[in-house]
Amino acid sequence: MAEIDFSKRSFNYYPTNAIVVAKFVDGKWSRPEVTGDFNFSLHCFAGIFHYAPSCFEGLKAYRGADGRVRMFRPDENAKRMESSARYLDMAYPSEELFIEACTLAVQANWEHVPSFESGATLYLRPILIGINPQLGINSSKDVLFAVMVSAVGTYSGAKILVPGTAVMSRNYDRAATFGSGGYKLGANYAQSLHAYNLAHKLGYRELLFLDTATHTRVEEFGSSNFFGIKDGCYITPDSPSVLPSITNKSLRRIAEEFGLKVERRAIPVEELGSFEEVNSCGTAVVITPICRIDDKPALESDTVTRQFRYPEVCGKYSEKLYHRLVGIQRGIEEDTYGWCVFVNEPN
Ligand SMILES: Cc1ncc(COP(=O)(O)O)c(C=O)c1O
Repeated sequence: MAEIDFSKRSFNYYPTNAIVVAKFVDGKWSRPEVTGDFNFSLHCFAGIFHYAPSCFEGLKAYRGADGRVRMFRPDENAKRMESSARYLDMAYPSEELFIEACTLAVQANWEHVPSFESGATLYLRPILIGINPQLGINSSKDVLFAVMVSAVGTYSGAKILVPGTAVMSRNYDRAATFGSGGYKLGANYAQSLHAYNLAHKLGYRELLFLDTATHTRVEEFGSSNFFGIKDGCYITPDSPSVLPSITNKSLRRIAEEFGLKVERRAIPVEELGSFEEVNSCGTAVVITPICRIDDKPALESDTVTRQFRYPEVCGKYSEKLYHRLVGIQRGIEEDTYGWCVFVNEPN
């Protein structure tokens, strides 16, 4: 088979060999199965088509400088899927089943794990959806768990660490104060899609959501968490309606390693004026520096009330954090935390 050129990939769906599927039906999990059939056959009354019993995850597998393939913190994704499923009152795969399915998915698509040199990665998308036929509003008792993969490049198509712009979302909210924002539910993304599309049409790379109750505090971006640096401090919002990002969690640990103080606390919008470096962070975006945040009364409005500006090049702390994190993921730096889970080449 001809070698695949991964170097020009963006964050998109690209065909692969197979997916992995397991079902929880009548109170029992089936064994995970590798299949080349990419279509699910579902009953039209399955809960997923009505009440959105759906949660998912995102993680990556990397081919390291040493040629070995590793997944980054899949145990954390398993735990977050459990918490999302618990919120939906659905069954969830054990950590063991979750990691086994991810491992099988990587092995079944081995030649799609990009080369180290390409800089691309294999993105894993585990999903969990309610499938039993139902009509009344209640949680699904049967679920389908699948792990799909796609070999991807950078999220925005831009070069790494090249800053982009963001706009604040004042007339669209992502997640209610006492809602589901802290879980990775499909429903949260449905809620943000329209505003996200608008921001992109206006040429912004990111959309910054504020707290729903008061619109006075920074929450997170449409696809990632927020962190800022000032006075030797790594600062990120502490809010139950922000998705607990595994990248952010890892960066907080690395920030401490670099001697930065770490603060998780409310960030008033006004404080945006005092940050030296601002970034979005997540599995897909890794660390993406932000050079400007526009504050508008509404996304559709031509008026920009104020602008927060940051350097046009990636800040020095953000760059250091990026290289340490990606270094661990790509096997260039020692994984002193034991975050990576190796995947053996299939026989
Ligand atoms: C809304 C949102 N916040 C944050 C993140 C980052 O989370 P993680 O670092 O676990 O990928 C993501 C991406 O998964 C996201 O979609």
